[in-house]
Amino acid sequence: MNTLYINSNEPGAAEKAAEILQSGGIVAIPTETVYGLAANALDPGAVKKIFEAKGRPQDNPLIVHVSSLEEIPPLVSKMSPALYPLAEKFWPGPLTLIMKKSDLVPDEVTAGLDTVAIRMPSHPAAREIIRKSGLPLAAPSANASGRPSPTKASHVKEDLDGRIDAVIDGGDCSVGVESTVISLVSDPPVLLRPGGISPAQLEEVLGKIEISHAVFEKLAEGEKAQSPGMKYKHYAPKAKVTLIKGSFEKYEKFLLAQKTATCAVCFEGEGKYFEHSLEYGIKGDAGSQAEHIFDALRRVDETGCENAFVRFPDMQGVGLAVYNRLLRSAAFNVIDLDFTRPVYGLTGPTGSGKTTIGEVFSSHGCNVIDTDLLARKAVENPQVIKDISESFGADLFESGTLNRRKLARRAFSSPENTLLLNKITHPEITKLTIEEIHLGEGRGAKASVIDAPVLFESPLTAVCDKIICVTAPEEERIKRISLRDGITEQEARVRVAAQKSISEYAALSDVIIENTDPVTAAQAAGKFITEELK
Ligand code: TXA
Ligand code: MG
Repeated sequence: MNTLYINSNEPGAAEKAAEILQSGGIVAIPTETVYGLAANALDPGAVKKIFEAKGRPQDNPLIVHVSSLEEIPPLVSKMSPALYPLAEKFWPGPLTLIMKKSDLVPDEVTAGLDTVAIRMPSHPAAREIIRKSGLPLAAPSANASGRPSPTKASHVKEDLDGRIDAVIDGGDCSVGVESTVISLVSDPPVLLRPGGISPAQLEEVLGKIEISHAVFEKLAEGEKAQSPGMKYKHYAPKAKVTLIKGSFEKYEKFLLAQKTATCAVCFEGEGKYFEHSLEYGIKGDAGSQAEHIFDALRRVDETGCENAFVRFPDMQGVGLAVYNRLLRSAAFNVIDLDFTRPVYGLTGPTGSGKTTIGEVFSSHGCNVIDTDLLARKAVENPQVIKDISESFGADLFESGTLNRRKLARRAFSSPENTLLLNKITHPEITKLTIEEIHLGEGRGAKASVIDAPVLFESPLTAVCDKIICVTAPEEERIKRISLRDGITEQEARVRVAAQKSISEYAALSDVIIENTDPVTAAQAAGKFITEELK
């Protein structure tokens, strides 16, 4: 199919779009929120073409777009009384209302539900096309299913060129995220998707409304979605997206400590601090963040980075919608770098007696986090299991449990394989460690201590206020290791030789605790932490 591109200001643009729509075609049209892919809502055949072009799951219903209130009564079985004050205040505009449908609306539009979603857009080109066609227009966002919604005609072209009849180019969308969806069928009304109109604005008209828990949380397994569109992973580039909470200083430090190419998705003026970056709006200005977020998410893969770290959006007004979309883009992956208590790293070569020093910190009220334990937990994560299977062989898992010995043999067979395993597991270990820090703080811990033998190989160094290194003379460590692990001194010597030298550890640490004599070392640790927590 040859897709026509028409500027909305060209004479006859709306007539041309209307003509295609009347004859059962599908046309991408600009709206103030995002571009929509429109078809005659009363023609099941035309509506089916939308699902095919987008690759959209059949159970996800569409919004019907109208240009005047008079078009609504035939579409609904009953006019909700709340419709009039809402329309008065917010229409035309970024608000979608769900009401009981009439028999006129085909099941193809509502995915078999007995309700229909209706919206009156404010973009002049959209309004003119609806008026000229004389039809209610079913229109989802004009992206390929799962991709970020389009806010420019060029985004539509990226996804749907050759798959649809025409694109009407009306410039960049001013709101930038999709409409607010609220169900008027339940009492009180339930907000299903945050958008251009905020909950506070709605409550001015409706009184108390409910916000569906699916707005901020993953659906429970097997839970039925009130709004089917909210259940899919959505808005996602190929790169793994993580949402990062905390000041710019913390964000910058954490991002620069990453071991893989990472794209900073940050605010205006911040991009220059990173090798790869995209900016999405002004810090403190939710409106400008909404306007640019989808374009930024679309550009992420062009940087070639495997990871994208997104600055946490401002939450007021339309910011709630930006947050909701980013959560889905990140598959609910959020890292919160705002700690209330100090964080210390505890590291050192094997055999130096880190564990004993950790116990001293515990006895002073610190939350000592054992990253070896978290590494074991990390390999229970479904995505990590999938990545390990793909890289090191599915036979490593016997009825879902990892054969750790077998993996160690394969992963430590070469430096490349070791790096590959770290790349798969370290982000998850990092995330779990940061979650443990918050849990400890919630329990009233005085500080957090990250006990990590390979701290310097991990981005966790970036969250540490200070790094403590425990050392002991080489001969002493060799004796301890062979005793602890029941291996020969010769074998222990090989292990010690494979590690960083004491001077390398020392250069990267803030504090050294010499652990030749455990009693003196414990006293030194106790003195350090008492001073710190004073
Ligand atoms: O701003 C917008 O709303 C854009 C522009 C083009 O108008 N449209 C849009 O459509 O975002 P779409 O299809 O991408 O999202 C429609 C959302 C989905 O989450 C869908 O599940 C929900 O509305 N929806 C539609 N009909 C529904 C119904 N009867 N009950 C519950 N949710 C419904
Ligand atoms: Mg959509």
